[in-house]
Formats: sequence, structure tokens, C-alpha cells
Amino acid sequence: MSSVSKIVFIFLSVCLVAVGTLSASSLAARAFFVFGDSLVDNGNNNYLATTARADSPPYGIDYPTHRPTGRFSNGLNIPDIISEHLGAEATLPYLSPDLRGQRLLVGANFASAGIGILNDTGIQFINIIRISRQMQYFEQYQQRVSALIGQAQMRRLVNRALVLITLGGNDFVNNYYLVPFSARSRQFSLPDFVRYVISEYKKILARLYELGARQVLVTGTGPLGCVPSELAQRSRDGNCDPELQRAGDLFNPQLVQILNQLNSQFGSTVFLGANTRRAHMDFISYPQRYGFITSKVACCGQGPYNGIGLCTVASNLCPNRDLYAFWDAFHPTQKANRIIVSQFMTGSNEYMTPMNVTSLLAMNDST
Ligand SMILES: *[C@@H]1O[C@H](CO)[C@@H](O)[C@H](O)[C@H]1NC(C)=O
Ligand SMILES: *[C@@H]1O[C@H](CO)[C@@H](O)[C@H](O)[C@H]1NC(C)=O
Repeated sequence: MSSVSKIVFIFLSVCLVAVGTLSASSLAARAFFVFGDSLVDNGNNNYLATTARADSPPYGIDYPTHRPTGRFSNGLNIPDIISEHLGAEATLPYLSPDLRGQRLLVGANFASAGIGILNDTGIQFINIIRISRQMQYFEQYQQRVSALIGQAQMRRLVNRALVLITLGGNDFVNNYYLVPFSARSRQFSLPDFVRYVISEYKKILARLYELGARQVLVTGTGPLGCVPSELAQRSRDGNCDPELQRAGDLFNPQLVQILNQLNSQFGSTVFLGANTRRAHMDFISYPQRYGFITSKVACCGQGPYNGIGLCTVASNLCPNRDLYAFWDAFHPTQKANRIIVSQFMTGSNEYMTPMNVTSLLAMNDST
């Protein structure tokens, strides 16, 4: 062989090996299902008449295509990074017309920006997919997959899948605290509201189990009072708003309690709790340790902390997104999402209860 053809040959072999491993690993990869709000929406809201959307620049500026996709991030969001860890392609939004045939076997993303645990959360966004509807779509998905690979194989795929659910933040910021004297805040004291929301969440999680979910990662609420939007609206000194922090302080431990109750009912490792608050506080309290220049100012936005209004082409935009913890007034950057997901995958018991995702999947592979 001439040296040129040798190089071409080696190059082709490398390509073939790469293609071989790719298809083998995507076959071996587990399916992944995602439920929840804007932190995990991969673009469902693009297909809806709603104001809660991320389908225009500069959203997606650091995504591989450098175009907006409906993700509330400069680049990848939390589910995308989990998919990477699973060795799978990103889940498509359930409403995407591209989600059909073999691609259904990768899983699906049912999340919709603006929703909460309660049906009245996010009503101002008009047309969004509430959680009960997301679960109806999951049933419809299962019928479609049964038609493709048969009922028994579909069941196996769903039981083996990893499921992510991220809910609750909007029940505070887009409901109880949306306006002063909101209907919910006149109806409930904060502790009573949290108890009510948690009791509704427990029903949702039990329903997911009924629908076949067996490995469910449930994220707590992040530090609601520390996001640029709340700093801009409520904080005089740049410290996290204590009232919204208290909401999370009440919500997160009660979430862990219901996960323990559900696990004692259904099997000790069906539901994994992620201490998202803790994972965020690491870089919010010590941004420099994580390579950020600030954890208070959003990369994209306007007003104090770039925390007022939406992120649009007319907003301030930071040149290097990796130096910011927050992309817009509410959502982390891709860089921060990587830090959060690495705790889901391999975090110690301070971050993950009763174990991290890597341990869970390894345990269930060997049984
Ligand atoms: C929310 O709406 C769904 C569907 O209409 C209903 O099944 C569910 O009970 C409602 N939840 C609450 C808390 O009212
Ligand atoms: C993941 O969880 C397992 C089980 O709790 C633990 O042994 C392991 O150390 C965790 N991984 C890391 C990196 O902490």
C-alpha cells in the first residue's frame, strides 16, 4: 500500500470501528424518559401556542448546531448530558414529528416549560403540557412502541429505562410567589401549601410507577431565591431571597420523605432523590472554585443581575458562557448543568439518596 492509501485505510478502519461501537452502544443503551418543566424541556413548547418558549436566538448559541432548539440553555440541558452518560442520543421532544420508528426506542422527552405539580401553575403561559397530560402521552408512547416491538418487549424497555422528573420550582415562582397576594398565598400559609403540593407530587410519582417506571430520578428544587430573577426583584444586597429559600427548605426534606415512603411500598430503589439545592449551592457559594466569574449575574438578560425580563437578541449577552453559572434569569448554563449532572451520576450520599445513578444502573444490570 502507498502511504496515502495506508492512511486512508487506517482512517476507514477507525471510522468503521467508531460506527460499530456507536450502533452497538445505542442498542445496548437504556431508554430514557423525561418529565417536567423548563429545566428539562427539549423543545416540546416549540409545537405549542405558548409564551413559555426558547426558540429564538441567542438560546442555543453553544448548542452543536448553534441554533435555538427550545432548550432553556445556551447549549446542552440536563437531560442531554444524562443521555451522554447513558451513551445514547438526546431524547426528542414527544411532539416532534421526527420521533417515530426506531427512534422511539431511545425514549422520549415529555417535559414542557412553565408547568408545575399543580394544574393552576403556569396558567399565564396559556397552552402548556401539564403533568397529567405528559403521563397520558407516555401511555400513548407505550402503545406506539408496542405496535413496533410487541407488548412484552415494550414493557421490558420501559422497566429498564431511566426516568427523570423535575417539578416543583414553578409551583413557587410561577404560582404562590408569582404576584403579591396570589390566590394560592391567600388560600394557604407556606407550610400548608408545601404539604399540599407534596401530597399531589406523591400521586404523580405513584402513577409513574403504575405506568412501568422502575428507575426514577427525582430532583428537588434548586435554590429558588438565588436565581438572577429573584435577586433582581427581591434582593437589596445581592443575597439569596430568604422567603423563596424557605420554600425550598420546606419542600426538599418532605420530598425525600415521600420518596422513602414510595420506596418502602414499591421497592427500595425505584425512586432516587437528587439534592439539587446542594449541587447548586456549591457553585453559587463558591463560583471561582468551579471556574465561574459570577453566580449572581445571568449571561443573557437586562436590568440588575441581568435578571429582568426575557433573554432575547436585544439583551446583554456575555461573550464566554462558560464563565457564568446562570444563562438567563432562571436557568443554568451548559457548564453548570454538567456540574449538576455529574452529582446525579456519581455524587455521594450528601447529593443522592439512597444512591447515585451510576450505582443504581450497575446494580440493576447485574440482576
Ligand atoms: C389536574 O388535572 C388532571 C386532569 O384534568 C386531574 O386528573 C387531576 O386530578 C388534577 N389535579 C388536581 C390537584 O386538581
Ligand atoms: C456512588 O454511590 C455509591 C453507592 O452509594 C458509592 O459507593 C460511590 O462512592 C458513589 N460514587 C461516588 C463517586 O461517590
